[in-house]
Amino acid sequence: MKRGLTFDDVLLVPKKSSVYSRSDVSLKTKLTRNIILNNPIISSNMDTVTESDMAITMARSGGLGIIHRFMNIKDQLNEVLKVKRAESIFLDNPYTLEKNNTVSDAICLMNNKNVSGILIINSKGKLEGILTSRDVRFEKNLERKISEIMTNNSELISAQYGITLEKAKEILHKYRIEKLPILDDKGYLIGLITSSDISKMEKFPNACKDNKGRLMVGAAVGVKSDFLERTEGLVEVGCDVIVVDIAHGHSDLAINAVRRIKNRFDIEVIAGNVATAKGAKDLIIAGADAIKVGIGPGSICTTRLVAGAGVPQLSAIMDCSTISRKKRIPIIADGGIRNSGDIAKALAAGASTVMLGNILAGTKESPGIVISKNNGKYKVIRGMASLGASFARENRKGCLDVSKDKKFQDITPEGVEALIPYKGNVSDILNNLMRGVKSGFSYSGASNMKEFYLNSEFIRISNNSLKESKSHDVKTI
Ligand code: XMP
Repeated sequence: MKRGLTFDDVLLVPKKSSVYSRSDVSLKTKLTRNIILNNPIISSNMDTVTESDMAITMARSGGLGIIHRFMNIKDQLNEVLKVKRAESIFLDNPYTLEKNNTVSDAICLMNNKNVSGILIINSKGKLEGILTSRDVRFEKNLERKISEIMTNNSELISAQYGITLEKAKEILHKYRIEKLPILDDKGYLIGLITSSDISKMEKFPNACKDNKGRLMVGAAVGVKSDFLERTEGLVEVGCDVIVVDIAHGHSDLAINAVRRIKNRFDIEVIAGNVATAKGAKDLIIAGADAIKVGIGPGSICTTRLVAGAGVPQLSAIMDCSTISRKKRIPIIADGGIRNSGDIAKALAAGASTVMLGNILAGTKESPGIVISKNNGKYKVIRGMASLGASFARENRKGCLDVSKDKKFQDITPEGVEALIPYKGNVSDILNNLMRGVKSGFSYSGASNMKEFYLNSEFIRISNNSLKESKSHDVKTI
């Protein structure tokens, strides 16, 4: 019988280091065959972890968020679009209205899309003016036509397609304007450059962006019913990577889903979850561009108790990496990570990135409301196979009668729901984690991901060593 180990069973042996400071360490890594991230952390496709707010912050930090699939297709596409529109060098389909629309139409659009200005075009797409939130802020007559209060094209500063970013910045500064419409040589609107996007670019230099300068984002799909339709929509709105999400990824269902998606669409696919080299190999043969590893290590998982199945996470990563390294397909270590030390161990074991649920749940950016209880603030985290998540899924399909519906009596949860203390901004947590991982690299004498993997050496530890590793003989404050 094989022996399985997990994060607490090992430590990384310190090695001679020439790393002087954390700033000498690069955390650049591969998420999939063709996607590079600037940090190795991605957020879990759980409905209490990743929707657009989380995905935006993740991408700005250099990682990536995977929008969960437990919503209808339209809503999921909308979440992806929110990320894609959060910033870009050049927005190629800015929101527009026509001059016969009313102030009320403009306010609605600005509020719904969370934008501060709308370009006004004619029915053929020629630019006619701009309307900003300042123009409508104190307008009492909501039925007034936009044409009466907009800034007309004749007074509007615009630029021709092909303008460099530097030049655009110069114009925005010179005329003290926020938005620069970009036109073709006949005056048709083809895009928009905004000063807020340029500021964001400078504020988040590590952000992971696609070739249009938009933040990168992933989204999960299942393996049954609507997965091809969902993938098609996601590809259309510019989603960068699809996660084929199934608890037991070493299955015909998962293999077929990966094959069908890869045959039909030109998109990177992450497949999982698996916990063995054989599982990883079958998904790689099916076409997967990255493998998600983890059966039962998650903070909210009960699969190992309910089904008796799983592999301790460190061993699972090591086993899967034997095949994935040969095939040059990256591994994502998914589940069970509690701190930056665990991230370092997962990377040393062969993962290229880690997926976090618990650490990122309970933050401002995670979905859900803040709950006050016993003088504390909390948010909910739940396993996607928990009772609550299963109920919510069936409810969305329109059958909520718990007492009558046989389906509800047949649910055996493989996850739990819990309160998690409210943690504030996720960016503080990410920065802390990255500093910790860089420290781990320096203890192994590594300044990048490859050196870290090659230099690192594990030592198995006893229960007494684990006790020694934690703070002891003190009352922590
Ligand atoms: P952490 O430890 O970061 O783990 O919270 C997050 C990962 O746990 C997986 N997950 C589940 N596994 N039952 C399970 O056995 C569940 O209900 C469940 N929900 C999430 C998932 O891989 C996630 O990324």
